[in-house]
Amino acid sequence: MAKNIKNEMLLEAKGLYKTYTQTSGFFVRRQSTIKALNNVSLSIKKGETLAIVGESGSGKSTLARCLLQLLSLDQGELFFKGKNLKTLNVKDKKDLKRHIQMVFQDPYASLNPRMKIGEILEEGLLIHGLGDKRSRDKKIRDMIKKVGLEVADVNKYPHQFSGGQRQRIGIARALIVDPELVICDEPVSALDVSIQAQILLLLKELQKELGLSYLFISHDLRVVRHMADHIVVMHQGKIVEQGSVKSIYEKPKAHYTRELLNAIPGKHFNFKVS
Ligand SMILES: Nc1ncnc2c1ncn2[C@@H]1O[C@H](COP(=O)(O)OP(=O)(O)OP(=O)(O)O)[C@@H](O)[C@H]1O
Ligand SMILES: [Mg+2]
Repeated sequence: MAKNIKNEMLLEAKGLYKTYTQTSGFFVRRQSTIKALNNVSLSIKKGETLAIVGESGSGKSTLARCLLQLLSLDQGELFFKGKNLKTLNVKDKKDLKRHIQMVFQDPYASLNPRMKIGEILEEGLLIHGLGDKRSRDKKIRDMIKKVGLEVADVNKYPHQFSGGQRQRIGIARALIVDPELVICDEPVSALDVSIQAQILLLLKELQKELGLSYLFISHDLRVVRHMADHIVVMHQGKIVEQGSVKSIYEKPKAHYTRELLNAIPGKHFNFKVS
């Protein structure tokens, strides 16, 4: 019988704190602090999607940057497959960078305009020393087809693509190094509504095929409903509620969650995935 991969713990975050300090004022310098993460704990299992929802400024991207270790935490611990990230050696740290990849919100700003698509996709393989030229080229061709583009597209530049196509390239760039966890920070909010469903569907299909886990960040609960297994609701750096999609939608406990749900225009989002 196939092993149920959904029960394996992939990432655990325990008691994360992150404060930003800002200095303002020209004559009189004032310091203010923002608690962007205030005791945040969560976990993601293999093959699952955990959604982080909350309005602008609630700390979602800060959380993503801390998980990717692009930002240092003030306090708290991160575990990847049970290993405390503080105890990793140099090789394990490099491996971890490969295992956690990111898909960005803005497919226009996140692709280097001077690089051909083939070069953009090859970059991660080179950084992580994966394969020789021949196998890299094959991987690039396979991946470009997987995300619904054509092999000939590898010789084009980002400006030759539409927003939706660029996001497909962003997804290919993240997946080409075989990550286990993909952090998607508002991956469709810069796209036309008509294109959003296609990209979400692609993410779902790729998840199934490759056994990926997603941390899916969105302010839009309509999108999250179709993507997530579990939802974490954040407000001003704190988790106000977390639970299964069913429990959050059918029995929201926190007042803030109910407000978010009530703010959904039309309540229905025009896409369905099985
Ligand atoms: N580099 C920074 N320096 C100072 N304050 C910051 C910095 N980055 C974020 N903040 C502040 O920290 C808080 C959380 O920001 P963050 O970008 O994580 O929110 P978010 O939930 O991703 O918002 P959005 O939905 O707008 O992307 C906000 O109050 C923001 O102004
Ligand atoms: Mg953000």
